[in-house]
Amino acid sequence: MKKDVKKTERIDHHGIKQKVKAKYPNETIKLLLERGSCRLFKKKKIPKKILKYIFEAGTHAPSGGNLQPFSIIKIEDKDTRKKLAELCGNQKWIKDAPVDLLFCIDLYRLKKWAEVEIAPFTATNSFHHFWISFQDTVIAAQNISTAADSMGLGSVYIGTVTECFRQLKKMFKLPDGVFPVVLLCLGFPLKKISVRKKLDIDIIVHDEEYKKLSNDELKNAFNKKYNSIKIEITPERLNRIERVCKNVHGEKFAEKCIKKINKNGYINMVQYYYGLHYVADMMASGNEEFLKILKDFGFSFLEERNEG
Ligand SMILES: Cc1cc2nc3c(=O)[nH]c(=O)nc-3n(C[C@H](O)[C@H](O)[C@H](O)COP(=O)(O)O)c2cc1C
Repeated sequence: MKKDVKKTERIDHHGIKQKVKAKYPNETIKLLLERGSCRLFKKKKIPKKILKYIFEAGTHAPSGGNLQPFSIIKIEDKDTRKKLAELCGNQKWIKDAPVDLLFCIDLYRLKKWAEVEIAPFTATNSFHHFWISFQDTVIAAQNISTAADSMGLGSVYIGTVTECFRQLKKMFKLPDGVFPVVLLCLGFPLKKISVRKKLDIDIIVHDEEYKKLSNDELKNAFNKKYNSIKIEITPERLNRIERVCKNVHGEKFAEKCIKKINKNGYINMVQYYYGLHYVADMMASGNEEFLKILKDFGFSFLEERNEG
């Protein structure tokens, strides 16, 4: 093994911790640049008054046409949080956080409004409405996350609601037209929040038009973000990456990848991400089931089109 290869027993896919600047032009910029996900929470309950401000920040978020097509399920019950943690990939912080918020697209409320007031309604048949509602939901969630930070709380998003859409529908009595998007665990941080390194702004921001990076620029950008982390080769990791490569790109590609790993003497970060963590073969499976779930939740834009 090469000397500088880290014996990474627990690889942290959340990235590298970063030092923060001392000076900022204002408190909002400081809050945004010193934010970080929180996964260790105090047992302390969140006072109702604080929650109210946070929810007001969420409901005041921008939303397409100001339609606010989202709902938030507030979960404080201990047993429900425990069950939720099990369903969402056994992530401990879901049960430890005193409050979990489930953000859902909600076209049910608007459909009912249209029904009651006698108005035409096709939003659940429309990709456009789904797309905008998804954005509205996430924007409200981020307003809430930032408001929480400003009140001395911490939070972490949970994306693994994708593993349990149907159970969530049942557990929280979600009517058709309501679709879970993301969970946010909320509470008082147990320790100081770490700030993670991000890509440089000139990698993310393109002047006037999209600029593709050269291979070297691309490698440098990611090496800088991840401090050129080198992950130790173990037979299990190698086998797993080989199997994933074979499944998605065939035998030849698997050979090429393993050869590169052995030549380098380490597993690099992108090989780790898609070969060992968000494994490329599993992540690309189950799409049919997701589409079926969408339909079963009352969103029919995939097969029903209202043209003209
Ligand atoms: C849509 C989304 C889903 C996420 N899902 C999870 C999750 O399931 N579990 C978790 O611990 N963190 C989750 N995170 C948090 C990310 O891991 C975190 O934002 C990332 O590592 C960067 O770290 P930072 O938030 O501290 O900057 C999620 C974040 C987002 C935006």
